[in-house]
Amino acid sequence: MTKLKNDTLLCALLKQPVEYTPVWLMRQAGRYLAEYNATRARAGDFLSLCKNPAFATEVTLQPLARFPLDAAILFSDILTIPDAMGLGLYFSQGEGPMFERPLREEKEIHALTIPDPDTKLRYVMDAVSEIRKALDNRVPLIGFSGSPFTLACYMVEGRGGTEFREIKTMLYQRPELLHHILEVNAKAVMAYLNAQIESGAQTVMIFDTWGGTLSDAAYKEFSLHYIQQIIAGLKREQDGMQVPSIVFTKGGGLWLEAIANIGCDAVGLDWTIDIGEARRRVGDKVALQGNLDPSVLFASPEVIASEVEKVLASYGNGSGHVFNLGHGISQFTPPENAAALVEAVHSLSRKFHSMKT
Ligand code: CP3
Repeated sequence: MTKLKNDTLLCALLKQPVEYTPVWLMRQAGRYLAEYNATRARAGDFLSLCKNPAFATEVTLQPLARFPLDAAILFSDILTIPDAMGLGLYFSQGEGPMFERPLREEKEIHALTIPDPDTKLRYVMDAVSEIRKALDNRVPLIGFSGSPFTLACYMVEGRGGTEFREIKTMLYQRPELLHHILEVNAKAVMAYLNAQIESGAQTVMIFDTWGGTLSDAAYKEFSLHYIQQIIAGLKREQDGMQVPSIVFTKGGGLWLEAIANIGCDAVGLDWTIDIGEARRRVGDKVALQGNLDPSVLFASPEVIASEVEKVLASYGNGSGHVFNLGHGISQFTPPENAAALVEAVHSLSRKFHSMKT
């Protein structure tokens, strides 16, 4: 069994007592850090950074060298799966992700196959093992994937930043086609996350960035249903340690109780919901992760501390809270403000935990 030097994150996810509230930041390795931009320039571009385990390890560790974060998150992207399916992922400057061959035709949809994580996504598994070695059990490593629906959005639209006309047309006009894509994606995500766990990921998070754009009924049928299938198939233990799962649907406040009921250990919250109210709604079912508005990081350290205090106080006493932003950190964030956030969470949260040391 591995002994973590700092297991605060895993304890909080499992609602076990902690001395302070653990914190990490979505997109903690990224363009707001000069050293990230320098490594990306050496790698050539973003995808080369993801596909080279040595570079991926380097950038995963960069935010930890700056801030006393309680977790590392694998440096990669959710779009590795559709890339491995052969859709031709590329990133064009200023445009975000694009696919050369978006999925539109019935024939292509039926030809879709589940990529073998040990071959097609070997570079991700190699990055996970290399990061674990470099971390030397300082903090746990978070693995991740996109949700089947969020992946399908990019696969069908062929790019980000659309109004989801293609995928929503398919959802209403040819629901069986979308269900087929989602079934393949769910199996692919399950195999991918289990391979990450076997390679060393100590907790896994599912990013459902676009589930919140669906109607109530469509969310349950086309997004949550498939996330539930994945959770049911995840390895729950590795090397004698429990592997908690986190589900984050951006804009998912409406469906909190439903998400808390699918068997995950924690639910991620964006900043549009009060975390104390969320806690009352889910009860003891799950831990909660979030949920400071990322824009707070544009304000002064004093404002950051008072906004952090509001989130901590709203959650209240006891374990089961992992502090995070409600979405990824902006590339325009001054790094010293991220430092102020981590410091504020660590110092202000102790009074909410009564654990004896
Ligand atoms: O959190 C972390 O530090 C781990 C790394 C991580 C990245 N992407 C790195 C990245 C994670 C967990 C993701 C997840 C991801 N990727 C999501 C779900 C979470 C979310 O943000 O909603 C989504 C939707 C994607 C797809 C994606 N990748 C988009 C839309 C973009 C472009 C957006 C942008 O910020 O330009 C990316 C690129 C990307 N992924 C970057 C990083 C650091 C920026 C790329 C660069 O260096 O140019």
